[in-house]
Amino acid sequence: MIYPITVYGDPVLRKITTDLDENYKGLKQLVEDMFETMHNAEGVGLAAPQIGLTCRIFVIDLSALGEDEPTLKDFRKAFINPHIIEETGEKVLIEEGCLSIPGLREEVLRYSTVRIKYQDTDLKEYDEIFTGFPARVIQHEYDHLEGVMFVDYCSPLKKRILKGKLTDITKGQVTTSYRIKVPR
Ligand code: NI
Repeated sequence: MIYPITVYGDPVLRKITTDLDENYKGLKQLVEDMFETMHNAEGVGLAAPQIGLTCRIFVIDLSALGEDEPTLKDFRKAFINPHIIEETGEKVLIEEGCLSIPGLREEVLRYSTVRIKYQDTDLKEYDEIFTGFPARVIQHEYDHLEGVMFVDYCSPLKKRILKGKLTDITKGQVTTSYRIKVPR
């Protein structure tokens, strides 16, 4: 099932998400729906608030980048109840976009390495370190679980410049190849 994607201005994107408990029903289906929704929108990552949910899940699929970067060929992962333990390394400036902020891209400064604890869809636990592009996407998606969006990192001047575009997005005045849910 393909969900409509929530966009900037929707209060659900500002909520801090909560861990799923082990009795949660339909986790595997939900994760498959998130992958399907993300692929349909040609994204590489999607977090639960982007489909209107406040549970602690995001999915990432970097396999399409495997042609240029063979190490990413098999990178298709669901992160259930993720918690970042530490961010280390240099801070790097890279341009980002977001399915919830269509048409807008800005450079964001983030750490190059992240250590994260999470579970898979069988609730098996992992404690792993990621670097490079996976670390970048993980930090972006993780922010969604904390109610943070990449434009929050922009300077006050930049924010003033972007204000009109963000207001348009909130009103649904934006063209996308995928269905969006316009905030009330
Ligand atoms: Ni995003």
